[in-house]
Amino acid sequence: MDNFIYNLPTKVYFGPDQLQHLGEEAAKYGKNVLFCYGGGSIKKNGLYDKAMASLNEAGLHVTELSGIEPNPKIESVYKGAELCKENHIDCVVAVGGGSVIDCAKIIAAAACVDFDPWEFFSKKTPIEKALPVIDVLTLAATGTEMDDCAVISNPETVDKMGAASPALIPKVSFMDPAVTFSVPAYQTAAGSADILNHIMEDYFAPRPNLFMLDRFMEGLMQTVIRYAPIAMEDPENYEARANLMWASSWAINGFNRGANPKVWSMHPIEHQLTANYGITHGHGLAIVTPRYLQYVRNEKTMPRLVEFGVWVWGIDPALSDDEIVDQAIAKTENFLFDQLKLTDNLKGFGVSEDRFDAMAEKACKKGIIHGFFDLGKEDIKAIYQACMQPHA
Ligand code: NZQ
Ligand code: ZN
Repeated sequence: MDNFIYNLPTKVYFGPDQLQHLGEEAAKYGKNVLFCYGGGSIKKNGLYDKAMASLNEAGLHVTELSGIEPNPKIESVYKGAELCKENHIDCVVAVGGGSVIDCAKIIAAAACVDFDPWEFFSKKTPIEKALPVIDVLTLAATGTEMDDCAVISNPETVDKMGAASPALIPKVSFMDPAVTFSVPAYQTAAGSADILNHIMEDYFAPRPNLFMLDRFMEGLMQTVIRYAPIAMEDPENYEARANLMWASSWAINGFNRGANPKVWSMHPIEHQLTANYGITHGHGLAIVTPRYLQYVRNEKTMPRLVEFGVWVWGIDPALSDDEIVDQAIAKTENFLFDQLKLTDNLKGFGVSEDRFDAMAEKACKKGIIHGFFDLGKEDIKAIYQACMQPHA
């Protein structure tokens, strides 16, 4: 294994009744806080009042930015950055799911520059500095609560793009699984598909395998497979919500990657679905995942697909490789479409094949997505086409 540096500077408060520490943590950075949230779920579940009480008790001056939309738009970043500059904000507090936290991260970076923050995405201008971000996670899915990444949409250019920087890693993360009791079944399913896919992106990467990391990732995948249906059936099951929440963070906080570079394939394919048709991120991934696995199976990728079948799904290793992979893909489909009840194809979303050419070109940035299987434009188009058909 090559050398690597692993530095995870996020302090985690896990479990109920920890939010009382929000004020003291934010006060470490100064007096002025930007408080970001979404469409109002935090007002319904009482989180808004609790977070505000803690910030007020610490004597902080709070400016609010509400209405951050799912798949956050660059417009919200502009608004937040302006508020930061006008109010001399010292720390950004984000209370919500991945959309609110991602938006808050880019607001925190935009507050430190004088140029259009869309350039972080369109021109890949490096993010060198950001205000400190503290998050209060309300939905187990993206892992943004403990990672260095944020994804923003630009409806004008029909783009959805990610940016990453150590400066974006939250300083503190509050994770109370009980807060996710109110997450609707559909969002629980989509979030769980997202967590599973984050692990798969690293698992199916060209990498020197490390036994310890492989078994760790398989354990994480089994955690999602075991607990997502329980959380859907019994939304207030603390054990299920806690397992999903902690798995969401560890799926994507860099641990699984070890010394390997980040080479993700299914996410760029999915981001085009959200950018063009507004499909929920995790749902789009659920539709793409089995088609991708089917498309990339060949002599070279087979050993890893077999490992996935045997270790994650418990398929009999005595079967032929083809039988194992057939069963692994079928079990993945059964989990995503039957147990999580996610629609299994793109037709119902008004997706039309006319855009596949342009979408595929954007997904591979006019080149190749290098990874477990190198994907060019025609490969990606074929995967989109396979996503139009119901699964067998
Ligand atoms: O807006 P509010 O009122 O908060 O409602 C939200 C929203 O409507 C609701 N919700 C959140 N917590 C809830 C709740 N409803 C009831 N009870 C609660 N406790 O759920 C809806 C969806 O929320 P959203 O934040 O959009 O979902 P998610 O966490 O899945 O985030 C998706 C975004 O994250 C990006 C995705 O592309 C997408 O834009 N991602 C970010 C990543 C990262 N930073 O590393 C990686 C991921 O791959 C992903 O791309
Ligand atoms: Zn994702």
